[in-house]
Amino acid sequence: MFDLKKYFDEKRDQINICLDELLSSSTNSTRIASAMKYSLMAGGKRLRPVLCLASAEAVCGNSDNIIREACALEMIHTYSLIHDDLPSMDNDDLRRGKPTCHIAFDEATAILAGDALLTLAFQILSSPETMSENNSSKHLDIVNRVSVAAGYQGMIQGQMDDIEAEGKQLSFDDLEKLHRLKTGVLIEASVCTGAVLGGAETEKVENLQSYAENIGLAFQVTDDILNVEGDPEIMGKSAGTDMERGKMTYPSLIGIDKSKKLAEKLVNNALDVISHFDHRADPLRSIAQYILHRKR
Ligand code: IPE
Ligand code: IPE
Ligand code: MG
Ligand code: MG
Repeated sequence: MFDLKKYFDEKRDQINICLDELLSSSTNSTRIASAMKYSLMAGGKRLRPVLCLASAEAVCGNSDNIIREACALEMIHTYSLIHDDLPSMDNDDLRRGKPTCHIAFDEATAILAGDALLTLAFQILSSPETMSENNSSKHLDIVNRVSVAAGYQGMIQGQMDDIEAEGKQLSFDDLEKLHRLKTGVLIEASVCTGAVLGGAETEKVENLQSYAENIGLAFQVTDDILNVEGDPEIMGKSAGTDMERGKMTYPSLIGIDKSKKLAEKLVNNALDVISHFDHRADPLRSIAQYILHRKR
């Protein structure tokens, strides 16, 4: 029986050590560096970098040489959270169990810390130290995939849609598009980064992308559910805020029970598309199941 807790604990430790090193070598003890470190090391689940590593393992059985790339994905994710929490966005004061970046520092510093983490991610993805372990054409491919996912046709469009939908009612298809963009595409890019660096042929990259598309959407559906019935102590962020702000969510559109059924269906779809992968894909299988039962 695959032990996901042990797997996650080991990977999270590796990721946290590497993130700490990357920040120390790229920054100094300035105010901006302190703000970047504050949010990055506040204790996230590290789902995106773990997915990147697990995806490479599903393809080639190994992820030792791609930890820096995995960490770059976590930097982009953390930047997105810092900006998402800003007063002009979701106006949240709690994240990862701590005051949000703009509360702990100030708004200008939080904006700049986000900008700096986003830029640092691409610095790391394209640096000679990172590329010496792999070949540069694969890195060009992932820089392209990640920048498209993080950019105005991906996550940024999703965030824009999320704001524009406040107080409105979207169709089921439009809500799916919104969730896929704001959360799904970075998860897809994380899985594809691992697949490409692991040397997967096109068809396998596509299978893994489809796995990620399904779990990415399921992840945001469960985020919406947790916002309704989750425990803020465990989540490290406030609950009930989506309703307060008139956010368009799955529970508000189809109710909690149907949202749970939908998450289950998406996870089953994800498992189906990688059913022909061997035991090296067990971490990916287990992560898909975890998404359904997560409490944070
Ligand atoms: C929260 O992401 C924001 C979403 C995109 C749903 P996570 O739930 O992965 O947050 P951390 O990284 O564990 O804090
Ligand atoms: C966050 O979505 C998406 C991004 C940061 C891109 P939400 O606003 O729904 O997530 P939480 O609930 O604040 O973590
Ligand atoms: Mg938001
Ligand atoms: Mg938010």
